Amino acid sequence: MIPADVENDLVRLLLTEEQIRGRIAEMCREIERDYAGEDLLLVGVLRGAVMVMADLARELTLPIEMDWMAVSSYGSGTKSSGVVRILKDLDSDLHDRHVLIVEDIIDSGLTLSWLLDNLRSRGPASVEVAALLRKPDAMKMRVDPRYIGFDIPNEFVVGYGLDYAERYRNLRGVGVLAPHVYSTPSQ
Ligand code: XMP
Ligand code: MG
Repeated sequence: MIPADVENDLVRLLLTEEQIRGRIAEMCREIERDYAGEDLLLVGVLRGAVMVMADLARELTLPIEMDWMAVSSYGSGTKSSGVVRILKDLDSDLHDRHVLIVEDIIDSGLTLSWLLDNLRSRGPASVEVAALLRKPDAMKMRVDPRYIGFDIPNEFVVGYGLDYAERYRNLRGVGVLAPHVYSTPSQ
């Protein structure tokens, strides 16, 4: 169900809270199988991955640590360019660690591709990616995330951590943002 206060801002609900919860549980069973007996460091990419990280981390029955990174991608408007700047780096040393990057969404793949190169250069035992959403039709740089929640159409989505101008992150599901929201002049 779409909350009444944002009903006019969304074209449709793409994923319900229940669908997301169910899929995250399935992803966690895969992760538990793959990392059985290992210590795992989850690296969340701020800010969009906050909700995925919170739910994934609590569903996992493995010993885990959590760390966070904030990056910004230079680019025009909403498109990422692949030129990335670190706004907040990790506190952890990655040397010999098993690292799982936790992402909200893979769009062009440019940000993630840069991040993978960056983290791999720090001498980890392994680096893999878990992303809740992927837009296969928007992919410019091939990245192969080990765990994917849902493949979605190439439309701008919000909710469950994803924002437009910092709004909608607290929606429990994921919905397609109505074009009138981002095409309306602000004054
Ligand atoms: P790239 O294109 O480098 O960008 O894969 C990934 C980042 O861009 C943001 N992004 C979105 N944010 N709705 C959002 O709220 C979207 O549909 C969307 N597509 C991309 C997001 O921060 C992601 O990490
Ligand atoms: Mg993000």
